[in-house]
Amino acid sequence: MSLNLIERPRRNRKSETIRGWHRETWLSPQHFVLPLFLHGGTEDIAIGAMPGCFRLSPDGLDREVEGALEDGIGSIVLFPAIPEELKTSFGEESYNSERLIPATIRRLKARWPELVIVTDVALDPYSCDGHDGIVQDGRILNDETVEVLVKQAICQAESGADVIAPSDMMDGRIGALREGLDGAGFTEVSLLSYTVKYASAFYGPFREALDSAPKFGDKKTYQMDPANVREALREVALDESEGADIVMVKPAGPYLDVIRMVREATALPIAAYQVSGEYAMLKAACANGWLDEKKVALESLLSIRRAGADVIFTYYARQAAAWLKEQ
Ligand code: PBG
Repeated sequence: MSLNLIERPRRNRKSETIRGWHRETWLSPQHFVLPLFLHGGTEDIAIGAMPGCFRLSPDGLDREVEGALEDGIGSIVLFPAIPEELKTSFGEESYNSERLIPATIRRLKARWPELVIVTDVALDPYSCDGHDGIVQDGRILNDETVEVLVKQAICQAESGADVIAPSDMMDGRIGALREGLDGAGFTEVSLLSYTVKYASAFYGPFREALDSAPKFGDKKTYQMDPANVREALREVALDESEGADIVMVKPAGPYLDVIRMVREATALPIAAYQVSGEYAMLKAACANGWLDEKKVALESLLSIRRAGADVIFTYYARQAAAWLKEQ
């Protein structure tokens, strides 16, 4: 039997070459930023729910960076694990220029000047309360926190950070950071804002990796409600007006609709963060043999790009780069 069809979309899928003619989205290592956890110790400590990720020693970090550059990944984002005894209410350790993050940036830049170093701005790794801001009577203070974040960002810029990425979700921090950085002479340091960051349970493994979970309550008074999307557009408009260079949506996979909405709302480049829980889900299913890791990992990253993201923060960066080379 033969259907009388004028349109047969399958004709455009009949060979790899023809599929290649009109493929709309693609992945390349240039789209990836590799997140790396570091600590002051001499061992690399495996992170339970994130197979393949470690709290890296300085040597381990150097090996990762070297490998990433060989894989064609030119950028990393650093997250520090800070010993409990150095955590305080005001997070002073976050802008101590002699400590882990600033010293590491200087060391990496001396060895690999071309490496793009992205740094996280927020107080949670440094806060004895495990919150992204200063806590007073159970509330997270906004303006007082922003003052500390500016010090943290200037300290990172002085050490050689290329891109500062505030993940704290305080109001007005992009404007304050831009002003602070410019005032200190760092007009060329970029601001990649975690603009649309949801109060997500998918950050669980990350908080385990850094021992940075909130000691009380949750982050819902500053991170966004997963039920909302109009609010995302409001955050984008604010960050744009305050001078953000790149806006981020986080998490990525469960929020592809948000990435798409943001894509339509701004001309700025968009970053998306495939977070620790997304990585853990894929790793767990693949370790069980339930999914084909190479295929699902690349598909998940491609989907984030298709939704509208330019750059993807992903723990799969190195593996994905290697898989892409095989193809
Ligand atoms: C901290 C920060 C978090 C992540 C990146 N920066 C955790 C949080 O907000 O609680 C999560 C990343 C991940 O889960 O992979 N400001």
